[in-house]
Amino acid sequence: MKNTVLTFKKAKEEGKKISMLTAYDYSTASLIDEAGINGILVGDSLGNVMLGYEDTVSVTMEDMIHHGAAVARGAKNAMVVIDMPFMSYQTSVYDAVVNAGRLMKEGRANAVKLEGGVEVKEQIKAIVDAGIPVMAHIGLTPQSINAFGGHRVQGKTEAAAKKLLEDAKAVEEAGAFSVVIEGVPAALAKIVTERSGIPTIGIGAGKDCDGQILVYQDMLGMYSDFTPKFVKKFANVGEVMKNAFKSYIEEVDAGTFPAKENCYTIDEDVIEKLY
Ligand code: KIV
Repeated sequence: MKNTVLTFKKAKEEGKKISMLTAYDYSTASLIDEAGINGILVGDSLGNVMLGYEDTVSVTMEDMIHHGAAVARGAKNAMVVIDMPFMSYQTSVYDAVVNAGRLMKEGRANAVKLEGGVEVKEQIKAIVDAGIPVMAHIGLTPQSINAFGGHRVQGKTEAAAKKLLEDAKAVEEAGAFSVVIEGVPAALAKIVTERSGIPTIGIGAGKDCDGQILVYQDMLGMYSDFTPKFVKKFANVGEVMKNAFKSYIEEVDAGTFPAKENCYTIDEDVIEKLY
């Protein structure tokens, strides 16, 4: 059964946890989907893990549409959420609606995600009014890394904690169907979750959020440029891949690959006529 905004709503009402992972391509999305995930986020983290940028600032609408459409083809049951890249919605309410529409029409998203709280309230409202579900994202919002001065845990002072609560309230009032909370103390995320009428999806925000999300390369040990404290490696796929690549190189060097069973055959008669 396809997961929708209603699945998320029902999960919060029933106290059932929501699982999400990122994906950026068809094969990975298919595997994650078959594993039974609720939602797949085509995150602008693709700038880091797929394109090798230092941050998400350079990611474009074209990047998001290209990867988003591939994921949408692989996700049969998971809800597909595509990130709105930096400067595709901050510039104006008009830009926000037009670009959200492109992610739905060209990327085949089921919902879009954008970063910010009080300051993007109007954008969220306008996108929702256009019939597009919005997942908000508050706390450590990576598109604002230059304003934060680095990847810093958010909400640690009384003022910052109150601002996070205001942001959560603002995005809910604007019509977001759920909200990602990233990089905030677990006890604060718990309060946000208790006060929120929409599901909270945590990443580096403790166990009391209504759901969790991780970048799949992080949880599989495939990306080591930067590993935040909140990442748990559920497998060391990076090591498995590297060993398989090494075996392949060794067999090619030794001439043992391809073996007979990897080759196509032809009648000897045909071959003889070629000499
Ligand atoms: O871009 C991304 O992958 C995200 C998640 C980390 C929430 O925004």
